Amino acid sequence: MEFNTLLFAIENGIATITINRPDKLNALNKDVIDDLSLAIDEVNNNPDIKSAVITGAGPKAFVAGADISEFTTLGISEGAELARKGQSMVFDKIENAAKPIVAAVNGFALGGGCELAMCCHFRLAADNAKFGQPEVNLGLIPGYGGTQRLTALVGKGRAMELCMTSNLINAGEALAMGLVNHVTTPENLMEKTKEILNTINSKAPLALAKVIQCVNKAGSATGFETEITLFGECFATTDMKEGVTAFMEKRKAVFTGQ
Ligand code: COA
Repeated sequence: MEFNTLLFAIENGIATITINRPDKLNALNKDVIDDLSLAIDEVNNNPDIKSAVITGAGPKAFVAGADISEFTTLGISEGAELARKGQSMVFDKIENAAKPIVAAVNGFALGGGCELAMCCHFRLAADNAKFGQPEVNLGLIPGYGGTQRLTALVGKGRAMELCMTSNLINAGEALAMGLVNHVTTPENLMEKTKEILNTINSKAPLALAKVIQCVNKAGSATGFETEITLFGECFATTDMKEGVTAFMEKRKAVFTGQ
């Protein structure tokens, strides 16, 4: 697929989505949001894609935030609409995707960039990455889910401090507080990400989709019940029969996504 603001490539079942505005540190303007929305639809719908990674073009930034230049003319309803549309078109869509989507954070992940990384199913970071929610510097607050997802990932006290101070944290600090799962060198970031996705891609696709659904419900009133229901549904899949049979026969399972 061709996009104005993204590079999109598929290799070995992995879609690599690269936000491609390096001269603006890959800031999320309206066009990027529109393109990302279409790219995630493609990830969900294209049977050649098993999983995806989101990263940023250039050596400096994953995404340095929402495009601040688009904020100058907005009023109350336009501001709310910007947040609502972005959340449903991109951030919630990524979180609830039917296939694993991870963030490879290769530099600044600030504001909407940190929020974009957080809506992915998990995150890897290069050791030059910097994370932060600096919106209060602009008289703003996070609008793409940052107050909610940061709290879920690092706890209330840390989320409060990061959103109140606008302080940036480095990759090691992000690792220590559970914001990212792995830190590696910038040169090794994509290789390490793809190594993990290759492992994931060898698993049963319908089971992976159900894992995403269940983990996303963690902490909600319906979390345990969702797990019970989806666990049951696994027994109707060919892949579950194949997985269990392969174990009994001491061979590697071959999953078809059925
Ligand atoms: N929106 C729009 N443009 C942005 C941007 C953003 N969030 N972040 C960076 N840019 C642009 C800069 O305006 C500059 O454009 P120009 O060359 O046309 O002037 C270009 O990207 C390079 O950024 P610059 O500030 O010169 O790089 P730097 O290395 O000096 O600083 C940052 C890097 C990330 C510290 C700094 O760009 C910054 O603070 N960005 C805003 C972060 C933010 O507040 N994000 C939350 C937004 S809600």
